[in-house]
Parts: sequence; structure tokens; C-alpha cells
Amino acid sequence: MATSQEAEQITESQLEPTEDQRILLTVNDVERTFQVGGSPLHVLKGINMELKERQLVMLRGRSGSGKTTLLNCLGGLDTPSKGEILFNGLTFHKMSDDKRTLVRRKHMGFIFQAFALMPLLSAWENVELSLRMAGIPRAQWKERVAQCLELVGLERRMHHRPFELSGGEQQRVAIAKAIAHKPILLLADEPTAELDTNMSAQIMAVFQNIIRTEHVTICMTTHDPTILEVADNVYEMVDGRFI
Ligand SMILES: Nc1ncnc2c1ncn2[C@@H]1O[C@H](COP(=O)(O)OP(=O)(O)O)[C@@H](O)[C@H]1O
Ligand SMILES: [Mg+2]
Repeated sequence: MATSQEAEQITESQLEPTEDQRILLTVNDVERTFQVGGSPLHVLKGINMELKERQLVMLRGRSGSGKTTLLNCLGGLDTPSKGEILFNGLTFHKMSDDKRTLVRRKHMGFIFQAFALMPLLSAWENVELSLRMAGIPRAQWKERVAQCLELVGLERRMHHRPFELSGGEQQRVAIAKAIAHKPILLLADEPTAELDTNMSAQIMAVFQNIIRTEHVTICMTTHDPTILEVADNVYEMVDGRFI
């Protein structure tokens, strides 16, 4: 199993600032096949893509086109049946589960459609929990929690619990929680699907803000055409392929 020190070295040696935006993630000919009732179901049929540093990239497609399956492979929650995923210079698709988990915990953050907050904890405590789970020293929590909640514009709602917040505010807590440990890649699965147009626009503004201030790369899925304008790159998915 890899040590967290090893994961640390990965960032430090490979995150030197360069003139151009460095490629953070490369996907080569990725396929994902599930066995369903004894026969193969081809869900991803040869995906090629690239994510660069500080980019906002969207995967767009209808329900069932394979977006979540691809996002799960990018985040190491699932592994491709064929093809390669290179993350930050590492052969992510070949890594042991332990090592992939370690890289994921240290360098990635996840946001889901339903906000995945702990209902009895305040916004502050939810973000703090994420720092605790990432093994960040307690002495750093206070400053970082405040910083993250400010970044998402919730400085005046810090001590509210999820049920005292609107859907958009809850999703902003989820974003603060996902970026607290300073990931380099943020993966978001339909983060605006449960929100109205106005709240979705706010979430996209928050994404743009954290790309600027935290230098994170964001890859998100959506089927909402109105929010595609802010993307640096849009991959359109139809039946397991990009068109
Ligand atoms: N673990 C699994 N086992 C079998 N089939 C799956 C599994 N995960 C996803 N699928 C199938 O893959 C297809 C694409 O699903 P998904 O990636 O969730 O699409 P999207 O996120 O674009 O709606 C669907 O037909 C779904 O039923
Ligand atoms: Mg999905």
C-alpha cells in the first residue's frame, strides 16, 4: 500500500506552475462493460478526453448515456474494463484499490446531485468533518472551514443546519466540503439537477470562483443546456460515446 507521503510527493513534484495549463487527466479508449443477467452491457464504448489544470469541463448527455459511469471511472470509484486513465502522471487504471483510494482521498473531491450533507451537523461542522476525515491537523480546521464557507458565499450561514438552508445553499455547503482538503480535481455529478435556474447560475459562479482561487479542475455532468456557456470544454455523450 502507498503511504500518504508518497501521495504528497506526487503533488509536490508535479504541480510546479508552468506557463501553459498542464494536462491533469488523460482518458485513452476507455470502455466499461457490465455483466447483466449473464450478458455484457457496453456502457462506455471508447472514450477519449483530457482535463487540463483550472478547466471547467462538462459532460453532457441524456439520462442513461453513461455520464455517471464515466465520472466514476475518472474518480477511481470504478475501473474501466479496457483503456487507460492517467491522473497527474500516474497510471490510475492500473493502481491497486488501496493506492487509488489514497490518491482519491488526497487529490479529489466529489459533489453529487443530492447534497450528501450530515443532517444534524451545521454547515461549519459538515466542512470540518471532511477535514477530519482527510486527516488534516486540527489546528488548521478553523481557518480552512471559514475560508471554504466564505469562498462559496455562506459566511452568514455557517451555523445553520441543512434543513435551515435552501437547496442552493446546501449545495454550496457540499462544495465547501468537497474542496476543504484542497483537491486538484473536483468531480460533480449533476450538481445543479435539483436546483432552479437562478440557483444553478449561483453554483456555476461558485465553480468559476474556486477554479480561480483554489486552482482546481472541475469536471461535471449535466443535461441542462443553459449552463454549458460557462464551460471551457463540453463533451457531448450519446450512448457511451462522445459525438
Ligand atoms: N453497475 C451497473 N451494472 C449494470 N448496469 C449499469 C451499472 N451502472 C450503470 N449501468 C447502466 O449503464 C447505463 C448508463 O448509466 P449511467 O452512467 O448512470 O448514465 P447517466 O449518468 O448518463 O444517466 C444505464 O443503462 C445503466 O443502467
Ligand atoms: Mg447519472
